[in-house]
Amino acid sequence: MTEPLHATEPIHVTETRAAYDTVAVDYARLLEGELARSPLDRALLGHFAELVTLEGGGPVVDVGCGPGRITGHLATLGLDVSGIDLSPGMVAEARRRHPDIDFRTGSLAGLGLAEGSVAGVVAWYSVIHTPPALLPEVIAELHRVIRPNGLLLLAFQAGGFSVRHERAYGHEVTFEAHRHDADDVTSQLVDAGFRVTVRTERARQGQEKTPQAFLLARRGPFED
Ligand SMILES: C[S@@+](CC[C@H](N)C(=O)[O-])C[C@H]1O[C@@H](n2cnc3c(N)ncnc32)[C@H](O)[C@@H]1O
Repeated sequence: MTEPLHATEPIHVTETRAAYDTVAVDYARLLEGELARSPLDRALLGHFAELVTLEGGGPVVDVGCGPGRITGHLATLGLDVSGIDLSPGMVAEARRRHPDIDFRTGSLAGLGLAEGSVAGVVAWYSVIHTPPALLPEVIAELHRVIRPNGLLLLAFQAGGFSVRHERAYGHEVTFEAHRHDADDVTSQLVDAGFRVTVRTERARQGQEKTPQAFLLARRGPFED
């Protein structure tokens, strides 16, 4: 039986945490080297990192960081980056793999960071477990913590439908994945006060079931 952290925790959060706690070690092992085989991912992360650096640097957070594969990459690009994840199992794996980086548990819906305190946020395939109806709440939290003119980079499987999984990464686990509609996410970012500056979608490849969407957004207020 999977226990919520507190009585009011939504079931999707409890299920997602339990699932990633179970798969953490195998997830990390199976995705090892994936970034080296993904030039588009590295290009987008590199673009984000260069902009942050050109604009004076500052703290960056990888939210839903999992075992820290993207966090570690951003650190190699020279960013002052830390990681936050819902799953203590994932945070333990991230700390083990990247002992020099700060990782802690936390939730996308409440990051525990001061308003306007970060230069940028990367959410790499982590909003995929937030039901579409709750996504505006998460985007509002990301907007709150990013400094004016700061950057947000999102990656997610696109599609506009949800899937219930009973098995993942070699384990029996139960959780939902939401293939968000890229137009809806773009509109929600704009409604929250972001400007979307890069929107990229690539076709599915290999074992993937859907196209993949990448949105880079800048927090307002805007000068022009
Ligand atoms: C598909 S994994 C991606 C991990 C990592 N970003 C990567 O690309 O390898 C999704 C991660 O998001 C985390 N996650 C899901 N919902 C979350 C939430 N509401 N708050 C914080 N982390 C969350 C999960 O625990 C999991 O580690």
